[in-house]
Amino acid sequence: MSGGMLALVSLGPGDPAYIVPAAQQALAAAEVVVGYQGYLEQARPLLRPGQEVRAWPIGSEVKRAEEAVTLAEAGRRVAVVSGGDVGIYGMAAPVFEVLRQRGWDGRCPEVAVYPGVTALQAAAARLGAPLGHDFCAISLSDLLTPWPVIERRLVAAAWADFVIALYNPRSRRRPDHLRRALGIIARYRQPETPVAFARNVARPDESVRLTTLAEADPAWADMLTLVIVGNSESYALAERMVTPRGYTGKPAGAEPSAPPHPGVETVYPVVLTRVAGAPVVVVGGGQVAERKVRGLLAVGARVRVVSPEATEAIRAWAAEGRLVWEPRPYRSGDLLGTRLAFAATNRREVNAQVAREAAELGVLCNVADAPEEGDFHLPAVWRGEGVVVAVSTAGADPARARAVRDRLAVVLSETDAEG
Ligand SMILES: C[S@@+](CC[C@H](N)C(=O)[O-])C[C@H]1O[C@@H](n2cnc3c(N)ncnc32)[C@H](O)[C@@H]1O
Repeated sequence: MSGGMLALVSLGPGDPAYIVPAAQQALAAAEVVVGYQGYLEQARPLLRPGQEVRAWPIGSEVKRAEEAVTLAEAGRRVAVVSGGDVGIYGMAAPVFEVLRQRGWDGRCPEVAVYPGVTALQAAAARLGAPLGHDFCAISLSDLLTPWPVIERRLVAAAWADFVIALYNPRSRRRPDHLRRALGIIARYRQPETPVAFARNVARPDESVRLTTLAEADPAWADMLTLVIVGNSESYALAERMVTPRGYTGKPAGAEPSAPPHPGVETVYPVVLTRVAGAPVVVVGGGQVAERKVRGLLAVGARVRVVSPEATEAIRAWAAEGRLVWEPRPYRSGDLLGTRLAFAATNRREVNAQVAREAAELGVLCNVADAPEEGDFHLPAVWRGEGVVVAVSTAGADPARARAVRDRLAVVLSETDAEG
């Protein structure tokens, strides 16, 4: 059957006045309206008599999408509705998933998406101008996204100084997510950073509460709340939140201080057993970096070298596809997603920056020219049949570590030969 039509319609945050005219027309033109019962209630004033309404309980998105696609495939004019914007944590993605599974050709049924006012925009309007600079949205629901992925995004967004909007901040099933999220963000923002709790925006019982990161109580949020955390420049003004369009030179968060040099009595030797395939960044392309890279390639690490220059060996490994060489200076963000970092340039300030940013991201770092700034040293190693011996002076005296290693190697080789 042909002629079917699927309109993905955004209902805005609540008040029908926030449904854009194009979406209203699409809704009026539909024969069948499919959606979560709460949202259908919200759209009730715009539905016309004679329209078939298929209301679904919460949490049945895929089934809803399947029903809507089936109806449209049968030639019906169907509207699928979502609160806020249909494309933002809404029904658009599940509908397209179903279309993909059914081998949709892009024409039949005809599909059109009608955008709307998402909760973030509605809350921002109430607050004044919290989104005056770069911002991002992160959902704290781990129903479809593993929590470690959510944490990684929180770290990246907080570290990069985005204004952060938290959708799905807290529910009965996951009462602790918002507290954990604010805790992560607080590692990168000052305690006085403005935070807003916008609940039921554009609905009859709307409430907006402005506070600070230090004072924010996660218990104020529920599933009807959107939380906005300002960036390092955001400020409160007469119960409003403003994020300037640019940076005014205010310091962006506390600088983590380097720990004192650990003596051997405080080192905690570990053996990394899963370096094969792990993403590792080596910053620097000289002889020191080459030595680190050689050892990493030997155990199968996924190495990325960031350096404007590189030794012959590093260039050759890159040409063979054994590592990725990015021939450019180090820049902030290069360590995101990496497991280990090596600061091995001949420039002190670059190595210090790498060490600082690794610490901010929780990435373990080795700092060639200032071992005490990093988290680990590479010991002198001897590998025998089924055994590895590592000797460390906690980075204080590598020559001595090598000498001890060599003496042990002689003894161990003899023992092995005898055994
Ligand atoms: C599944 S998401 C749906 C988002 C929706 N598609 C949108 O664009 O706003 C549900 C979350 O959106 C936020 N939300 C939706 N409507 C809201 C409103 N009127 N006021 C405050 N937050 C709202 C809440 O964080 C809620 O937990």
